[in-house]
Amino acid sequence: MHAVLFVPAVYLLLLLTPFTTSWWAAGSFLVMDPNQTCKRARWQRGKMADICHNKPGLLNQIAKGVALAQTECQYQFRYRRWNCTTLRRSIKKVMLRDTRETGFVNAIVAAGITFQVTRACTKGEQIGCSCSKRKKKRNKKKHTNPPLPEGDWEWDGCGENIEFGIKKSKDFLDNRYKKRSDMKTLVKLHNYVAGRMAIKNHMRTVCKCHGLSGSCTLKTCTRKMPTFREIGNRLKERFDGAAKVIPGNDGQSFMPEGETIKPPGRVDLVYSEESPTFCEPDSALGSFGTKGRVCNDTSQGEEGCGILCCGRGHKPHNEEVKVNCNCTFKYCCEVHCDVCKVVKKINTCE
Ligand SMILES: *[C@@H]1O[C@H](CO)[C@@H](O)[C@H](O)[C@H]1NC(C)=O
Ligand SMILES: *[C@@H]1O[C@H](CO)[C@@H](O)[C@H](O)[C@H]1NC(C)=O
Ligand SMILES: *[C@@H]1O[C@H](CO)[C@@H](O)[C@H](O)[C@H]1NC(C)=O
Ligand SMILES: *[C@@H]1O[C@H](CO)[C@@H](O)[C@H](O)[C@H]1NC(C)=O
Repeated sequence: MHAVLFVPAVYLLLLLTPFTTSWWAAGSFLVMDPNQTCKRARWQRGKMADICHNKPGLLNQIAKGVALAQTECQYQFRYRRWNCTTLRRSIKKVMLRDTRETGFVNAIVAAGITFQVTRACTKGEQIGCSCSKRKKKRNKKKHTNPPLPEGDWEWDGCGENIEFGIKKSKDFLDNRYKKRSDMKTLVKLHNYVAGRMAIKNHMRTVCKCHGLSGSCTLKTCTRKMPTFREIGNRLKERFDGAAKVIPGNDGQSFMPEGETIKPPGRVDLVYSEESPTFCEPDSALGSFGTKGRVCNDTSQGEEGCGILCCGRGHKPHNEEVKVNCNCTFKYCCEVHCDVCKVVKKINTCE
């Protein structure tokens, strides 16, 4: 059975809005469509405003990238107490702070934009780019990413132009913070980089053989991004291991809170504020609480009733779910299924 879990029906968009400087500083998020975002950028200058005013094709891809990030955030956080809901009254509060959740959302949004813009480039969308035409530079650089294959081969015509995606993600997200060095901004910029690194550091070289019966007379290789699910998984791991940081002595940097902890690298997520528990509803924190959330009573993990219900306990329910059953194959070539109702036992938090 194929469950379609998170398909945003509406074109919702989470974007930083340039309404007032203080909103910027706080990193507030708004849920809106790209047109709405750009309306607010009407009186602004700079690279982000330029994209808004002059590059509708690119803006459209950026919007898709943000939607992709949202969907992935909800998948990765589906069993967490804060489930990456895009309801404004929650996400807005979360993005005003500087917790691990804030860091994850910033990283995945930067990754989503990079990914979508790069992909659009490869597909030949007219957004001011071409695919990556690399020269083979074998034996010149010792460390290339991704590592180059052995033997004789050529670059395929069109590799994924990750550099373009990174550049546009920076133009849209980072550029406006260039002159700021307060703690939240430093943390945000760091997490944007970490998000993009989760793609860039994991590009693959994929090769194909050509020639009679796979004889490989000619081998061509191309650069490919990981899937967005892989990127999401990687960032979720970084989220689990995120480092708490405090302001550095120079006022231009941060350092790990514990002296014994090694400084976070470019791929690591950082945060400066502890997260709320998200156990009880609290509108000031954007928390809905976990009452009524579905949990797993045999798991000890974050989806387990113990953690998800914050020790309040849970109760079992029977839930009727519809599944495809009794599928038959009809010549040719359709599959017909009946819809059956099955009773599933679920638990929800008290
Ligand atoms: C944004 O505005 C343009 C031009 O007015 C329109 O064609 C487009 O459909 C709008 N997009 C959305 C998502 O509303
Ligand atoms: C997130 O959790 C809330 C309850 O806290 C629930 O109403 C909502 O449907 C969940 N959203 C997603 C996307 O899972
Ligand atoms: C609940 O957790 C257990 C142990 O982790 C797992 O084997 C099981 O598949 C989970 N059940 C559901 C419905 O996800
Ligand atoms: C499956 O299909 C057959 C043939 O149409 C039907 O006789 C049978 O009752 C169906 N079974 C279920 C469980 O729907």
